[in-house]
Amino acid sequence: MALALSMPLSTWRSGVYLLAIIGFVVALKGLSSPRHARRGNIAGAVAALLAIAITFSATEVDHSARNLGLALGAMALGTLVAIPAARLVKMTAMPQMVAVFNGVGGGAAALVSIGELLHIHTTGVSPATYVVVEAVIGVLIGCVSFAGSAIAFAKLQELMATRPIVYPGQQPINAVVGAGILALLLLAVVTGDTAYVLGVLGLSLVLGVIFVLPIGGADVPVLISLLNSFTGLAVAASGFTLGNNLLIVAGTLVGASGMLLTRLMSKAMGRSLPNILFSAFGAVVTATGTAEGLDGKAVKSSTPDDVAVLLAYARKVVIVPGYGLAVAQAQHVVKELADSLSTRGVDVFYAIHPVAGRMPGHMNVLLAEANVPYDELKEMDEANPEMPTADVALVVGANDTVNPAAIDTPGSPIYGMPIIHADQSQHIVFLKRSMRPGFAGIDNALLFDDKTVLLFGDAKDTLQKLVAAVASV
Ligand code: TAP
Repeated sequence: MALALSMPLSTWRSGVYLLAIIGFVVALKGLSSPRHARRGNIAGAVAALLAIAITFSATEVDHSARNLGLALGAMALGTLVAIPAARLVKMTAMPQMVAVFNGVGGGAAALVSIGELLHIHTTGVSPATYVVVEAVIGVLIGCVSFAGSAIAFAKLQELMATRPIVYPGQQPINAVVGAGILALLLLAVVTGDTAYVLGVLGLSLVLGVIFVLPIGGADVPVLISLLNSFTGLAVAASGFTLGNNLLIVAGTLVGASGMLLTRLMSKAMGRSLPNILFSAFGAVVTATGTAEGLDGKAVKSSTPDDVAVLLAYARKVVIVPGYGLAVAQAQHVVKELADSLSTRGVDVFYAIHPVAGRMPGHMNVLLAEANVPYDELKEMDEANPEMPTADVALVVGANDTVNPAAIDTPGSPIYGMPIIHADQSQHIVFLKRSMRPGFAGIDNALLFDDKTVLLFGDAKDTLQKLVAAVASV
């Protein structure tokens, strides 16, 4: 105890930073499963609070009333904006919010790097080369992340065209901007002149914009995960500039986890990252979009009453949720249906595809909101072996994630993507509004299968009708 009390403040600060780092690692571990995601989130928030609070004790911090007022004022303003934004945001608008938060994080990291460089210059000392290198890298990555996230936000919010934007001379323009950044970066490092760093800042903002413009709106969630990883790296770079170990570790954790998530998402979509970033996927819709398949076979439409009988007398029903569930906000009513089937003795579970919806964990979060028990959620690999013994696969607003073209049609844009094998169950019921295709813009032969019936309409309305119909069976 006496030893602890006699420790200098800087040792205390390092100890608290270490605790915060452990908190961030525990948070990431917690966030890896919906079961303990809430606890993970709290661990991360507490760690961040500890880190911020102890930073005020640093001797390098300017403790003048003006500086403290500015810092606390900015924090109060950020809190005032962030709390209502996080509480009010709709589940389907979550990717936009992540884009905004990520963008400001990248921008802040770039400002910290450039601010530190300017600060060193005001002391009359020339910054060491490694400091300039760290600062310039922080500025480059942070600005790309800031500008890229702003365009990603505008696309997701439909403030601008969501389709991939391509223009004449795109490649030469990219090359000129890339070469310009490289030249300015070298000049900044060799001369240490901040004018060149400001040049890197300007061109990096341009790079962020031209990097994101050709990416289609539906691929933007993967892009956001990548930009999130960039922001982490920019934060780590500013940690080097400031000599702050906590920023270095926290930034690296964000950078690495963002990169892993980007990889997992591309793998689950059966596409490579370069294909997602540079192929303008989703720009061309090849689906016929009609109720008649390519071989003239028509889809079979059914009624809630008929489907209710099928469900009520089934032994096993697998619900396959997709993007349409999120659009319809039908998570509560789908749970109502599952509960009413369970009380009749039907074995019901949800089969979750890793890229169902439009963001990682979209279905898990949505269904958790409706308090669906975690043991009813089965990941794709766990669910697929059960599909042949399912009497009914109830596909609620999913399409690409059950499309057999991913398995049997080489050349299809989704070929190679693992799917939920709804096709192997005895009966398949699709809940969708029309014959419009899913995100990939391609036909789905499963809609025309002999075992398939369609219930047309908004998923929430249709599920409400099903709940009522099951109750009267
Ligand atoms: P999709 O293939 O996009 O299909 C969604 C289906 O929902 C469509 O058939 C649509 O048909 C229907 N729908 C939309 N609104 C509806 C409503 N209100 N009521 C009923 N149905 C509705 O969805 P999925 O199977 O979830 O696949 C996700 C796709 O997104 C994959 O291709 C994946 O690669 C891609 N993606 C995912 C992510 C992540 S991380 N999840 C990120 C980027 C891209 P109607 O319009 O006819 O109703």
